[in-house]
Amino acid sequence: MKTILVTGGLGYIGSHTVVELQNVGFDVVIIDDLSNTSIGVLDNITSITGIKPRYEQIDLKDREAVKHFFKYYAVDGVIHFAASKAVGESVHEPLKYYENNISTLTYVLKEMVVNNVSNFIFSSSCTVYGQADEMPITENAPTKEAESPYGATKKMGEVIISDTTKATDLKAIALRYFNPIGAHPSAKIGELPIGVPQNLIPFVLQTAAGIRKELSVFGDDYPTPDGTAVRDYIHVVDLAKAHIAALNRLLDKKNKANCEYFNIGTGKGSTVLEVVHAFEKTTGKKVNYKIAPRRAGDIVTAYADTTLANTELGWKTEMSLEEGLASSWKWQEGL
Ligand code: WQD
Repeated sequence: MKTILVTGGLGYIGSHTVVELQNVGFDVVIIDDLSNTSIGVLDNITSITGIKPRYEQIDLKDREAVKHFFKYYAVDGVIHFAASKAVGESVHEPLKYYENNISTLTYVLKEMVVNNVSNFIFSSSCTVYGQADEMPITENAPTKEAESPYGATKKMGEVIISDTTKATDLKAIALRYFNPIGAHPSAKIGELPIGVPQNLIPFVLQTAAGIRKELSVFGDDYPTPDGTAVRDYIHVVDLAKAHIAALNRLLDKKNKANCEYFNIGTGKGSTVLEVVHAFEKTTGKKVNYKIAPRRAGDIVTAYADTTLANTELGWKTEMSLEEGLASSWKWQEGL
């Protein structure tokens, strides 16, 4: 049985990936500092799979703790989610993001190299493309100037990893996520509502639940079918399964380069208003909204060309936007 370290494994995407890892027989150990989640997620994962993952509460900024972890645990691969991820917050607190997303990445990579752990999956983001010139977006699209320190840490992270694979035996795959939505069908794990939601779906959920008065739709004057911005909303369980496919590619030594990149999305773009209306149709819930000014830093359109992930990873999305929205609402109702 292979042992996989999942950093940030009690977070939204991390917890869903732990469940899928356990479902296919991996032994999982989680590192999480609980800065953006709660320890209850560990029991919720256990209640889904019947297997309690090993867990260490470690702040990856604590270099000695990272060093000690890799001396104590023998792992066959690492899936690295641990990072701060609020775009707006990163603009106001860049140093927090560079310390928490970059320093920690270097400490994990250093101890992997020292301990001959060579399989690394990185949580990257389509944000590295900025506003891509062509749709759908392929992995050959040029990466652009980051719109935020958060986005910059994803771009820098990819460079750090690429350089490390050139100088060591490290093999890496960066998964460039589009927009994760939804929750596990059990509704036992999902995106925890911490603070005022910055992302669209959590805000839609809280508006439908009466927690928020109304949704502000940031701009309806974009050059899109209905004037609102277009994104590629992927079910978090499909996204989690992409990590398994990427990990197996490295474990089975099927990678064709020491550092590879895959766009993980559905390949379909939806406008903000299409999402709102699909949510209302799927759940029967009303979402009060108003049109508000554009949000600084937003791009107009982003949706993935998933050909490479389909052909090389043997992975594709299985769930629809509506299934993602329905699972989100089931999760929200259980909060
Ligand atoms: C989607 C669309 C908004 C909120 C960011 C990061 C990405 C990833 C996901 C971490 C946009 C509109 C939103 C609201 C709205 N981050 N919107 N009203 O900005 O595409 O991606 O979050 O993993 O890396 O870049 O996601 O959900 O914030 O916005 O109209 O209250 O919804 O303007 O068009 P985004 P989002």
